Amino acid sequence: MKTIATLSTLATFLLLVGQQAVSALRTCPVKHNGEDDSQAIKDAFEECKSNGRVVFSKNKKYMLGDVVVTPELDNVEIVFDGSLTYPFNMVYNDTTPPVPGAVQGVSAFFTIQGQNVKVVGNGGEIYGSGEEWWHLDPLPSNRPVMMAFMVDKLDVRGMKLINSPNWNFYVHRSKKVKFEDIFIEDIDNKHGVKPHNTDGWDTSEVDGITIINSHINNADDCVAIKTSMYNKKNNYTTNIHIENVYCNGSHGISVGSLGNIPEMPDYVSNMLVKNVTCENCQNGARIKTWPRSSLGYVQNVSYVDFHVTNSDNPIQIDQCYFNIEEEECLADPAKLQISNLSFKNITGGGSKKAGQVMAYIVCSAGSPCEEFTFENIDLIPYDGSEPVYLCENLANNKTAGLDCTPKNEREIKKK
Ligand SMILES: *[C@@H]1O[C@H](CO)[C@@H](O)[C@H](O)[C@H]1NC(C)=O
Ligand SMILES: *[C@@H]1O[C@H](CO)[C@@H](O)[C@H](O)[C@H]1NC(C)=O
Ligand SMILES: *[C@@H]1O[C@H](CO)[C@@H](O)[C@H](O)[C@H]1NC(C)=O
Ligand SMILES: *[C@@H]1O[C@H](CO)[C@@H](O)[C@H](O)[C@H]1NC(C)=O
Ligand SMILES: *[C@@H]1O[C@H](CO)[C@@H](O)[C@H](O)[C@H]1NC(C)=O
Ligand SMILES: *[C@@H]1O[C@H](CO)[C@@H](O)[C@H](O)[C@H]1NC(C)=O
Ligand SMILES: *[C@@H]1O[C@H](CO)[C@@H](O)[C@H](O)[C@H]1NC(C)=O
Ligand SMILES: *[C@@H]1O[C@H](CO)[C@@H](O)[C@H](O)[C@H]1NC(C)=O
Repeated sequence: MKTIATLSTLATFLLLVGQQAVSALRTCPVKHNGEDDSQAIKDAFEECKSNGRVVFSKNKKYMLGDVVVTPELDNVEIVFDGSLTYPFNMVYNDTTPPVPGAVQGVSAFFTIQGQNVKVVGNGGEIYGSGEEWWHLDPLPSNRPVMMAFMVDKLDVRGMKLINSPNWNFYVHRSKKVKFEDIFIEDIDNKHGVKPHNTDGWDTSEVDGITIINSHINNADDCVAIKTSMYNKKNNYTTNIHIENVYCNGSHGISVGSLGNIPEMPDYVSNMLVKNVTCENCQNGARIKTWPRSSLGYVQNVSYVDFHVTNSDNPIQIDQCYFNIEEEECLADPAKLQISNLSFKNITGGGSKKAGQVMAYIVCSAGSPCEEFTFENIDLIPYDGSEPVYLCENLANNKTAGLDCTPKNEREIKKK
């Protein structure tokens, strides 16, 4: 009886402390044992899941021996004063469950979910051991992504991600998201192979994402705006803002691929890409959609002050993605329509592979592209020759502001 009375006094006391603590966040430093800190990470999140700060302490090198999915967080700050390593472990390939409803069924080492979450990289970094994965043959298909988010109001700043086995950030079912001062580098100094699939960011079902003041050195999309393939209710990504970003070695700032499950429409709209430099950029400004009667739309996308160097495809719209025969695309074209695209002040140069072709705009015969505008396009082929802009099924090709060469004419000329 006495114990119960004491417990109830204690509970009242804790309740009062809890109420007082609403303004100040409670801090939970993650304990460190140096072998596998995943349980300690889970414990810290459990303890600080609401109005808390989870801190990876300075000068500590944490190891993640097991994947972490946080509880639903509410008003939580996650601080990386120290660093976190994901050791190479093939078990991840077969056993890591996918992020619920994820695009391409991807799984993640670290999934953060909830609302009002801040992630602060305060000198710490996350190291993914990507070089131990990229050279494997066959390449394991289920390599986890570095970090996945399912958060309403997310602010991530100052994070440094090194050598991701797969995508770096995956943002899914989230709203009001901002990434600032992010540094991503995926380079294989060990085996010298290509860092496969190391997208900077992928999205699905996101309303409001800003990526600003960031630096990415990788070998796949710098940013890939995708949307869900499985969720019939929220199959969109909208309100996307990408500004002051440097990408190197990447596949550019992409929308898609979209529409790979024909009966499921995908919607992407309201995207602004401004002041992006894309060096050694396989593709620069790119939108890719599958044929086979794919449904949905891409609407209101602007690329402004976009600079590419050594690019195979400075501007590319491809509605016959991916490696599909032209005959098949003609017989069963995309119904997903691309409209209201604007390209303004696109500068730089193509690679030898690009030849003279500085824009490749191949829209669908089933839903021609509409309302495109081009202004101040100054793209120079590698040999200084006249640029060629190939177009197909661009409805307003006479007024778009680009001197289009019909794609089929060009092919006839080449033969
Ligand atoms: C895991 O990797 C092995 C070797 O590459 C591969 O055979 C297997 O299919 C992969 N499993 C999954 C689930 O991707
Ligand atoms: C998602 O797709 C379904 C059809 O599968 C469609 O009825 C619905 O309107 C779409 N949702 C949105 C938000 O567009
Ligand atoms: C454009 O972006 C680069 C980063 O790639 C940045 O250094 C530069 O300050 C930005 N320019 C403006 C006008 O904001
Ligand atoms: C860009 O990537 C190339 C390799 O593709 C590398 O040699 C160069 O150092 C990188 N530049 C920067 C600024 O990271
Ligand atoms: C087009 O997208 C921009 C964001 O890039 C947004 O500010 C604007 O309101 C959108 N226009 C329409 C008609 O939705
Ligand atoms: C597309 O452009 C047309 C004509 O400029 C405009 O009337 C319409 O509001 C735009 N729609 C979107 C979604 O931006
Ligand atoms: C065009 O974009 C580049 C950045 O890629 C910028 O430095 C330049 O000032 C822009 N020019 C105009 C006329 O806005
Ligand atoms: C140009 O527009 C006309 C009229 O919409 C269309 O018939 C033709 O196929 C278009 N050509 C190209 C190269 O897009």
